[in-house]
Amino acid sequence: MNDFIVAGTGLRVAATRLDAILYNNRKNRSMLDWNPHQYLKFTNERTQPSIDLAARIKLENPRSIIDIGCGPGNSTHVLRERWPNAKLVGLDSSANMIRKAKEDYPDMEWIIGDASNFTSDRTFDVVFSNAALQWMQNHDSLIPQLFSIAAPGGTLAVQVPANNESSLHKAVLSVSSKEKWSKFTSGCESLMNYQTAEYYYNLLAPISTKLDLWETIYYHVLASHTGLIEWYRETGMRIFLERLPDDASRKEFENEVLAECRRSYKIQKDGKVLYPFKRIFFVAYK
Ligand SMILES: C[S@@+](CC[C@H](N)C(=O)[O-])C[C@H]1O[C@@H](n2cnc3c(N)ncnc32)[C@H](O)[C@@H]1O
Repeated sequence: MNDFIVAGTGLRVAATRLDAILYNNRKNRSMLDWNPHQYLKFTNERTQPSIDLAARIKLENPRSIIDIGCGPGNSTHVLRERWPNAKLVGLDSSANMIRKAKEDYPDMEWIIGDASNFTSDRTFDVVFSNAALQWMQNHDSLIPQLFSIAAPGGTLAVQVPANNESSLHKAVLSVSSKEKWSKFTSGCESLMNYQTAEYYYNLLAPISTKLDLWETIYYHVLASHTGLIEWYRETGMRIFLERLPDDASRKEFENEVLAECRRSYKIQKDGKVLYPFKRIFFVAYK
């Protein structure tokens, strides 16, 4: 009942066999693992989109829910609050994230595995994913695959950040393109992957009975420009930072991004910095 086939390992694994999965993930991993503590420095801001997405799902009593790219369990906890009686599973490729999720929410089922190419014998009334699919390629096949594990009458509910047009992301790209950095970071710009609302509409409208799509811009209030670096260090900028050879170069890279951000983000009358952050949402029903 608890078995999953984790892509890339060829293993059918049970939720409790985390050590075996961790071992196989280590062998395959090309990137450093996530730091849940850094990620959770902005818990409220990072969790609000999950709350908004869960609120829009028009299912009163789902029995089974999977949270794809559950991270440290903050989004899964939102699902637990909304549907206390549902059976919940969190799936994430990061051993660190799953360890933290298990620590904070020991009563849920947690699985380490790669969602970009996984299959499941089980279907779920809600297949949920908040701020995770942008780390996976080929949405053309990924989205229908995730929809296929939604049960009849169930739903695929997704939020992806659409942040590539932000001044912060542009600052990272601009610094990264300098010769001294590009020799390390070349190719990183295409690792974060999301599409337009129209793209998701065209993928899902033909196969769903009902489809809701929307975008929201969240204005995050940061104490200073340094908050921008703090925010992005564990998400969009980490793929660049982890390619750099040492901590000194990571610091220097961050300082250069910070200098660009000081020029592009105004300080407000109260001394704070506003960080507009666009996100795309969709809920597709079977
Ligand atoms: C930005 S965090 C989102 C965490 C949480 N869902 C939230 O709402 O805050 C993205 C998560 O996606 C996970 N992730 C990235 N690629 C993945 C993959 N191929 N399979 C499973 N999880 C993945 C990362 O390990 C990370 O924990």
